[in-house]
Amino acid sequence: MLCDSIKTLLLVVVVCSPVLATTCQLKKPTFGCSNLPKLTVDFEQVTIESCGNNHTKTLFSKLLAVSFDGLAERKTYALVMVDPDAPGSGEGEAYLHWLHTGVKGSGLAQGNITSGNTIMSYARPTPPSGTGVHRYIFYLYEESNKDITFQTISKRGKFNLHKYAQKNELCGPIAENMFTTQYNE
Ligand SMILES: *[C@@H]1O[C@H](CO)[C@@H](O)[C@H](O)[C@H]1NC(C)=O
Ligand SMILES: *[C@@H]1O[C@H](CO)[C@@H](O)[C@H](O)[C@H]1NC(C)=O
Repeated sequence: MLCDSIKTLLLVVVVCSPVLATTCQLKKPTFGCSNLPKLTVDFEQVTIESCGNNHTKTLFSKLLAVSFDGLAERKTYALVMVDPDAPGSGEGEAYLHWLHTGVKGSGLAQGNITSGNTIMSYARPTPPSGTGVHRYIFYLYEESNKDITFQTISKRGKFNLHKYAQKNELCGPIAENMFTTQYNE
């Protein structure tokens, strides 16, 4: 309220930012293991809990569940998996492996991601020969506009996650996790 009424004053930035900083804000994804809380990601053959471990790519053929505790039960969330090391990715771009929106906070506590809509279905990692180690990063965003219709995406390559988050009124990322894998094996 106070912030609204004096919005035009430059001073407001200084006065209000410590307050705003505690609410969910959109930040650029760092495409690495940061200090964000960690998602638990269950694949049929492996569970990702700690961040940044390297595994054989064949373990990731089937994504089963993503869980995260302590979310607002009535809010909805978006989950995404990206590979910023895919050939052709420019600054801030990545190959889009998965995007699911409208997941209920109450479901995520139990790893139930059946609510909501799949914007891009899951594609297992297929890092090409000669392109080294690829990072596969999961992010959880909060949906700040319940009534939004999420933009459809026609191709996986060169996906700009930050721009998409901005356009679709997401905030976060509020949680993450990452594994790496590469072509050989
Ligand atoms: C990552 O794991 C793969 C598959 O087990 C292995 O071939 C590769 O050498 C590992 N890479 C690193 C950087 O540890
Ligand atoms: C998962 O969530 C969906 C949609 O909210 C619900 O219909 C279903 O019963 C839940 N499944 C389990 C196992 O709780």
